Formats: sequence, C-alpha cells, structure tokens
Amino acid sequence: MPHILTLTMNPAVDIATSTDHVTPTHKLRCSAPQRHPGGGGINVARVIQRLQGSCVALYPAGGASGVLFSNLLASERVTSLCIPIAGETRESYTVHENATGKEYRFVLPGPELARSEWQACLDHVAKITPRPRFLVASGSLPPGVPTDFYAQLARLSKSLGIQLILDTSGEPLSAALEEGVFMLKPSLRELRELLGQTLDSEQSQREAVENILNKQQAQLVALSMGADGAWLFNAQGACYAPALPVTVLSAVGAGDSFVGAMAWALARGLTEREAFCWGVAAGSAALASEGTGLCQAQEVERLHGFVQLQCSDRGPERGSEGR
Ligand SMILES: Nc1ncnc2c1ncn2[C@@H]1O[C@H](COP(=O)(O)OP(=O)(O)OP(=O)(O)O)[C@@H](O)[C@H]1O
Ligand SMILES: [Mg+2]
Repeated sequence: MPHILTLTMNPAVDIATSTDHVTPTHKLRCSAPQRHPGGGGINVARVIQRLQGSCVALYPAGGASGVLFSNLLASERVTSLCIPIAGETRESYTVHENATGKEYRFVLPGPELARSEWQACLDHVAKITPRPRFLVASGSLPPGVPTDFYAQLARLSKSLGIQLILDTSGEPLSAALEEGVFMLKPSLRELRELLGQTLDSEQSQREAVENILNKQQAQLVALSMGADGAWLFNAQGACYAPALPVTVLSAVGAGDSFVGAMAWALARGLTEREAFCWGVAAGSAALASEGTGLCQAQEVERLHGFVQLQCSDRGPERGSEGR
C-alpha cells in the first residue's frame, strides 16, 4: 500500500552540465548534460523509491518537456500520477564551473496553471485510494496557483486524516501555517524569511520554533541549518544533530533528501527522533553527489551510523505526548 503521496505543483526537468568558466558574451561550451526529473516533491519521491519505500508522486505536467519529465520519472521506477496541463513543464539548469567549483543555478518560472488544473490536483488528493498516511507537499507554486493553495491542501489533509509534511517558503508557507500542518522542514533561511527576524542566536531560533508548536501551526518541526546541523522540535522536546563531516560536492537536493528519508522512516513506524536521524543522514549523503543528484541509499545507511542526537525533554507541565 502506498503510505506516502508527494505533491509537486511546479516540477522541472533539471539539466546539469559543466563548463570551464562562466563569462558573458562568449559561447560557453558545456559537457554532455544530465537530465533528472526535479522539483521538491518529485525529489522526495525519488529518495523514498531509492530507500525502497512505498510512494506515489502526483504532479501536473504538459507539453513536450512534460512527456520527457514523465519518462525520466518512470525510468527511476517512481510510481506517478500526472495531471495533464495545457502549459509546458519548465526546465532548470545547474552549471558547474570547473575553474572554481562554483555552481550556477538558473531556475525558470513554471507554466501558468488554469484553475481547473490546480483544482484537479486537490481533487486527486481527495480521492486517491488507498488513502496515504503522509502527504509531502514540497516546492514553489507556479503562476496561476493561488497563494493559499497549500492552506487549502492543509485543510483538506486534516479533513481526510492525512498527515501533511510541508516544505515550501514565503507566503504559501505562512498561509498554510494559519491552517496548521503535521510537519515542517524549514531551512534557517526560510524560517528567517517567514518570521521577518534575523534569528541570530540559538535561543531566538528555539523560541521561534517553540512559538510555531505552541500555536499548533505544526506538530513537528525539523529546522535544517546546512553546515551548522539541524534541530528537531516536537511534543517530546528538542534535539540537536551536529552536521556530519562530509565532503560537499553539491548541496542541491540536500533538503529534499532530508525530507524524503524522514517521511520514509515515519511511514515505517519509526519514532520522530529516529526519523530525524535518517533525515540528517540523507541530507548529508546528498552532498556527496554532484549537480542535481540526490542521496544514494548505501551512503544514507553508512552515514546513519554517525548521527548523534543531543536531546532535552520537556518537563511534565508542557505535556509529554511525543513519541
Ligand atoms: N555544508 C554542509 N555540511 C554538512 N551538512 C550539510 C551541509 N549542507 C547541508 N547539509 C545537510 O543537509 C541538510 C539540509 O540542508 P539545508 O539546511 O541547506 O536545507 P535545504 O532545504 O537544502 O536549504 P534551502 O531550502 O534553504 O536551500 C542539513 O540539515 C544537513 O544535514
Ligand atoms: Mg529546502
């Protein structure tokens, strides 16, 4: 039974290539491109597939690039459900500059979705059988999709008893929080942007997330801070996981690998803290792959053995219903 459904409103064919120097005017001769199906929830589904979890990826796609996109996804054996749209699925480019090792990322806007097209995505979530336990909605919203789309999804998920894991940013995120979700995985940058605060100290970061939990905007928050490690906050308390010492080839896809492994572990019935460890391992494993490559299962397994948590439980007066 598929335990996890992912929803990606703005998928992209990710094209990764390299060139010696990125400079204006001159033609930049590039290496043979690698193409991957991308977009937040698509990457999450690919990670779950690699970890041999059960998952369906739902996404709108159209045009010739939409056909290419669906073929790329099928070649990774990801079970998918495509909502056909009139517009053309977007492409994104990652260019690795050989001379400096820097990565340049060109992200194109997605096609404009008609109301009937984005509504069809919500309708599919409502009627998909068997009903998934977790829904991972990840990534930006393309033009035409209302800012409160994820808020509508949060409301729908609650009414269906589906636990919504949301990884997005800006206004769509703040609107969804008004409704309340099961889990959030903001990066520190996204949390700062959401709250309009600098959150310079650990204490201010902790208070900001505690506030989200107290307002019941989320039950579980994994706050990722790149090379500075990650925090997990839930009803049980707070845990810090220092970053693992890995060589960074590319940080692209670290967050998606993190969310994918956490969702996979939760769907297997592991505790939230255990799932967080898998998230940290997968986020770190993603750094070892170039361009838009995601984590490899073997590397996730290996790094999982190195994850260490420093946890503090809440006192009884704060409730201890955490798992
Ligand atoms: N430079 C790094 N060194 C070690 N670990 C890292 C590094 N960058 C990312 N990670 C790992 O990957 C996880 C997710 O990375 P990050 O916090 O950058 O989130 P993200 O979702 O990729 O960011 P954003 O959405 O803002 O681009 C981290 O919690 C950490 O485990
Ligand atoms: Mg992210």
